[in-house]
Amino acid sequence: MTSRRTVLIAGAAGAAALAGGIGWWRAPPSAHEPPFTPDAAFPNPLRLPGGDGLYGIFDIGNHFTIVGKPVTEAIVPGKPVTLLAYEIEADGKRYRNPLLRMKTGGMVRAKFWNALEETSIIHWHGLIVDSNNDGHPHYAVGGGEIYEYDFPVPNRAATYWYHPHPHHLTGKQVYLGLGGVFIVEDDEELALQKALDLALGVTDIPLVLHDRRINEKGELVFAPTDDEKADGFLGEQVLVNWTPKPYLEATTRIYRFRVLNASNARVYKLAFKSGEHTLPHQLIGNDGGLLEAPREVRELFVSPAERIDVLLDLRAQPPGSAITLHSLAFDAMEHQGGPPAADTPTAAARPSAHAGHGAHASYGAGPPADQNAAAPVATAVAPAPAPVTRAVPALGVAMELMRIHVRRKVAFNRAVPEKLSRIMPIAANCGTARIITLDHVKMVWRINGHTYAHETTPITVKRGAVEVWEIKNVPASMPHPFHIHGFQFQVLERKHSPEQQKALAINDKGLAASDLGWKDTVLVWPGESVCIVIDFSHPFYGNQVYMIHCHNLEHEDQGMMLNLRIEG
Ligand code: C2O
Ligand code: CU
Ligand code: CU
Repeated sequence: MTSRRTVLIAGAAGAAALAGGIGWWRAPPSAHEPPFTPDAAFPNPLRLPGGDGLYGIFDIGNHFTIVGKPVTEAIVPGKPVTLLAYEIEADGKRYRNPLLRMKTGGMVRAKFWNALEETSIIHWHGLIVDSNNDGHPHYAVGGGEIYEYDFPVPNRAATYWYHPHPHHLTGKQVYLGLGGVFIVEDDEELALQKALDLALGVTDIPLVLHDRRINEKGELVFAPTDDEKADGFLGEQVLVNWTPKPYLEATTRIYRFRVLNASNARVYKLAFKSGEHTLPHQLIGNDGGLLEAPREVRELFVSPAERIDVLLDLRAQPPGSAITLHSLAFDAMEHQGGPPAADTPTAAARPSAHAGHGAHASYGAGPPADQNAAAPVATAVAPAPAPVTRAVPALGVAMELMRIHVRRKVAFNRAVPEKLSRIMPIAANCGTARIITLDHVKMVWRINGHTYAHETTPITVKRGAVEVWEIKNVPASMPHPFHIHGFQFQVLERKHSPEQQKALAINDKGLAASDLGWKDTVLVWPGESVCIVIDFSHPFYGNQVYMIHCHNLEHEDQGMMLNLRIEG
């Protein structure tokens, strides 16, 4: 193991030396456009997936190695800092947090090399895999170790993602940079791309939302207090594709945005606005892929780990106009009772400066090997990063995320297909359901009265069973994004929803447009019950152990997570 570590550190240093010249964002769309001066509120060009580098598009073919490691990148332009990333080197190119892309039915054969100094494992969020390939925390490997994945991907086309999943460390590792988008394509998806002349990274644009605290040096600061471990760790600004205050230059055509909320704890209420005017847009897909048909929407909640796939039509926008992606104000409903008193909206100014125990990404491979040789593996070293002094907006406070500048008129005569896919509804109703209760005692969040224990499996289901689950969030609670590994489900009904959720209902079951189709994560508000139906059929023999958990990563790391066994 020692020699493997040494090799890796040498390899990382070599790669860093090569790295200097690789640009972070693609060149402007056309060289003969007049120079553009963005407004001061959104001065940075949005990072877009290109041929390599950060978010480089990596088509999964042969076996590949993906390394989780500390890297140097500048989040704030001109301020290179250490953060964590997944890196692939292939065919002379280097990808960081690559946008993985493959076809339904293809294979993933990958070696995960953990070059952190603590345990980690990759979870493929939303993919239907056996439990050996799921990245369950009990497969986490130590620093310097390797985990081999080998699985087919039967999933429908959709925007999935991948991220670390070691127990107690998921929140920190995601926060410091690890994670990426995983796009699966099939014939329906390719037909849509063709119909709308979409190109990934140009007119089909992933928007990965991360709220982060960034200090004067440009470092990410992860330093949750006990209160923030209970509530979730919020950032003072929202990065889109790791770009602070981003803008996008666009033309008068239809754009597709695949939004992934990769934030630890922040829920967004997304809307596109031109000044005060909200632009309707089309929801075409979510966690598990395309809906049957596009749905016009004006605003949507997107909780941590959820994805929405939307079309924004800019044909009626005059060149020179600007559209802003907002997160609108909403009631965070943090009514958990005890401190912190987050139920006052003025908690917006909760200070984010904490002396002492902050983690930042310099804990990784750290200093050169010779200085590091005797250092114990698995601890976060590091002097605490300088604190962040800006106020952190509370959950539910309005924020502006990104500006889109309509630059130039183009002819675009494509029509949005009326039919996108076919969703076979699973016949079920909320009558007799397995009850899943979300509550807390003394600010420790629980599922059915349990917190996570490695060795226990509180929920067991027979392979092939079709079950209705009623996920009941108690009234004195917080919003919890509830997630299941290994399966996609359908949302049947929302009951006792708060007004702000009811206002988005599109049917008499209280569902929002974004509850349609196939889901792997669903937001459950305090006092609300959400019924879902899950078909536990899968092609894996023998017992499989997955998990269910809250995707607020602080809640998850504090134990709001259970093993789920499928008896095969
Ligand atoms: Cu993205 Cu266990 O989750
Ligand atoms: Cu998952
Ligand atoms: Cu939660």
